[in-house]
Amino acid sequence: MINVTGFRYCRLGTANLEDTVTFAQDIIGLEVVGRENGFVYTRGDDRDHNICYFQGDPADQTMGLELDTFEELDGAESALKALGLAVHRGTEEEAAARRCMGYINFKDPSGNSIDLTVRPFASGRRYFPSRDAGIDEFSHIGLCVTNPREAEKFWSTVFNFKTSDWIGWSALMTFDAVHHRFALFPSARPGIQHINFQVKETDDIMKSDYFLKDHQVRIQAGPGRHSLSGARFLYFYGPDNMIYEYSCGVRMVDETWRARQFPVADASFCAWGCSPDLSVVLEGSSAAD
Ligand SMILES: [Fe+2]
Repeated sequence: MINVTGFRYCRLGTANLEDTVTFAQDIIGLEVVGRENGFVYTRGDDRDHNICYFQGDPADQTMGLELDTFEELDGAESALKALGLAVHRGTEEEAAARRCMGYINFKDPSGNSIDLTVRPFASGRRYFPSRDAGIDEFSHIGLCVTNPREAEKFWSTVFNFKTSDWIGWSALMTFDAVHHRFALFPSARPGIQHINFQVKETDDIMKSDYFLKDHQVRIQAGPGRHSLSGARFLYFYGPDNMIYEYSCGVRMVDETWRARQFPVADASFCAWGCSPDLSVVLEGSSAAD
């Protein structure tokens, strides 16, 4: 089993790099920590970076995870190849662009591009926010999968992910104590469905709700409270229709936690009564049959 120990970064192509970076700074509240060879590195916590943007196809998206050792990286490469998956061993230059000492890239069975990194960089400087959004951690993503049951099986048998809860066929999975690091959403195509940053408290959610509306940012859902994880949330659209989320107070789970099945319904998504767009958990649901 491939043992993931860290949730590290997203690499996102964007149709207009400068507009996207401006949005990341002025609206989301991320810090730009570097610009190199067309890559712009941004973050919302003290790690080297959380999101690396580059001019390119917005469908070109990669999620970066962390393994502890090069031995585990070698083992992961063999295990993924044995499953018939194409694996690319990153060059030194490519590893430098990902701010880590080594990595491999592969496509999961849905076609999602995943980097497995070893010794990704820490930073000697603390996160200095570009606006007071209250962000304190890059925490999880929504991941589009073409067959949610197969995807859940892949991440829980080939990798050390465990399911914390289900809403419909969507599994919310984690490799550590945080309720979810991946929320798997049925979809006709792969991709990152949303990117979550934790904020300190509910006040930050509400302040951002007013801030985003004042700046004509389209809200996707919320403010609300997730019935599954307990987190207060706010989702909004950024450039390239990427959805970003602020949330706080996500539930922690341990080995005694038993996954619960929730139906696809407003009350499963929001305990406060907001009416979210449930198409994200319904789209392509027949693929699960
Ligand atoms: Fe989320």
